Amino acid sequence: MKTIRLMNKVIRNPNAFLRYVTFCLKQYAHYDLVEYASEDNTDKGVSGHDYIRVYDFFLREKRCKPLTFCEIGLSMQDSENAEHKDSTLWKDKIYETAPSLNMWRKYLPYAHLIGFDIRTFKKSNDPQVHIVQGDQSSREELQRIIDHRDSLDVIIDDGLHASRHQQITFAYLFAHLKSGGLFFIEDLGYQPEEFEEASIPRTVDLLKILQSIGKWNSPLATAEEKQIIEEQVASVYMYDSRKSPGPEFTDYIAVIVKK
Ligand SMILES: C[S@@+](CC[C@H](N)C(=O)[O-])C[C@H]1O[C@@H](n2cnc3c(N)ncnc32)[C@H](O)[C@@H]1O
Repeated sequence: MKTIRLMNKVIRNPNAFLRYVTFCLKQYAHYDLVEYASEDNTDKGVSGHDYIRVYDFFLREKRCKPLTFCEIGLSMQDSENAEHKDSTLWKDKIYETAPSLNMWRKYLPYAHLIGFDIRTFKKSNDPQVHIVQGDQSSREELQRIIDHRDSLDVIIDDGLHASRHQQITFAYLFAHLKSGGLFFIEDLGYQPEEFEEASIPRTVDLLKILQSIGKWNSPLATAEEKQIIEEQVASVYMYDSRKSPGPEFTDYIAVIVKK
């Protein structure tokens, strides 16, 4: 009986049925990113920072588009070593796989993926995955991304998380984001102490000012970068998953949308 009633409804209102199916598929889409995050051992999933809710919210509707997508910081493996100044711990190692890109490949099957990391990752066999090696605190090395693709739809900074590195990366790459593009900055609540400098404000505080009065006060931005950011940021969203220990701990991810 139930099936007959459902069939009748579908025949009478096919558009409503289509809307329903689309809705169901979108719900499913949320859960597949949860799975991929844990399958590929990234720290974005529910057992880590739980940032995938935010990614899914902003990216879900773009999943079938041929996005140009770049993530800075590719693997949790030995990442505590890569986050120390002693490069002998990882310099001669070649990493077989970039877990973050594996996750995005499944979630965004039509995107061109670019991964950027200070460590050496093996070249991918997938022609739509390109890995660039470099240090995100160097504009010259970030330029290697732009030499490969000069405009990007999505950029994620999940690299070292030091304030200097975050601010140089944002200032330099924001200009290369397409109109309507998204710039995500993860782990704004954690900065490795040995890289922090008294004269550089924390990125999370600068983003709060950008969000409220539209000013970018980073001492590391050139006059031209500052002007582009102040004129072309449409909105700044901040989410705090508070997944890490302690009531005072913040675990912000920011999403900056370009006009
Ligand atoms: C938190 S892990 C990335 C995790 C990965 N995105 C994920 O979701 O599983 C940080 C990464 O940043 C890279 N990294 C550290 N310092 C860097 C720098 N100065 N420039 C570029 N990448 C850096 C490390 O090698 C490491 O792969």
